[in-house]
Amino acid sequence: ADATKSVPPPPPPPPQPAHVPNSNLAHMNPLPPSVFTLPQTAQLEALYTIIRDKETSRGDFLFYSDRIIRLLVEEGLNHLPVVARTVETPTGATYNGVGFEGKICGVSILRAGEAMEAGLREVCRSVRIGKILIQRDEETTLPKLFYSKFPQDIAQRYVLLLDPMLATGGSAIKAVEVLMDHGVPEERIIFINLIAAPEGLTTFTKRFPSLKVITGWIDEGLNDKAYIIPGLGDFGERRQVSF
Ligand code: URA
Repeated sequence: ADATKSVPPPPPPPPQPAHVPNSNLAHMNPLPPSVFTLPQTAQLEALYTIIRDKETSRGDFLFYSDRIIRLLVEEGLNHLPVVARTVETPTGATYNGVGFEGKICGVSILRAGEAMEAGLREVCRSVRIGKILIQRDEETTLPKLFYSKFPQDIAQRYVLLLDPMLATGGSAIKAVEVLMDHGVPEERIIFINLIAAPEGLTTFTKRFPSLKVITGWIDEGLNDKAYIIPGLGDFGERRQVSF
């Protein structure tokens, strides 16, 4: 027993930073006022490190990207307006709180955006979901609308527009144009995104300055194939969404 007494206690672990240095935000400094990132914590960076790793299994990719999507959806909802709401608690007291205002719907940009629908449904039960398919027109090389389906009252709703990777911004811009053609004002759209390239974010926010963008991480840039660097490769392929 005496021998154990003489063993010195292990040194305390070095202090861990609560926040990672904002090196990623340095890729875009200052941020446009309509852009909001998730709190850049070490915990969040650990989630991103897993999904960026090319060795990560599909199961882990699904699990950890879903965790990020959930955080993004919650942050998106923080930007929706509320109205005063008073309730009575079981103690008989009155609580002057707030309640959700207005109706929302999700719109996923196919195909990768579809992977974000489940995360939205987990947070907003029975939420209405619309879809937009935009692909590059082989002749003009411009993004072209191939298919869209929306709730019929979409013009009266707040729209959470879902696309995991914002690269050049071409499809996101086209998607917003389609929503606006359906009567949704720019101010009532919130774009929700996992990883943004500064190029796409700049183009998109200049075009729609009053549309809020919620992104988890801002990366360095694009390569010559319009993949985000460092990025995570092809999001749809990593989740192996079967088309
Ligand atoms: N879409 C992806 O899936 N990955 C990118 O890097 C860019 C667009």
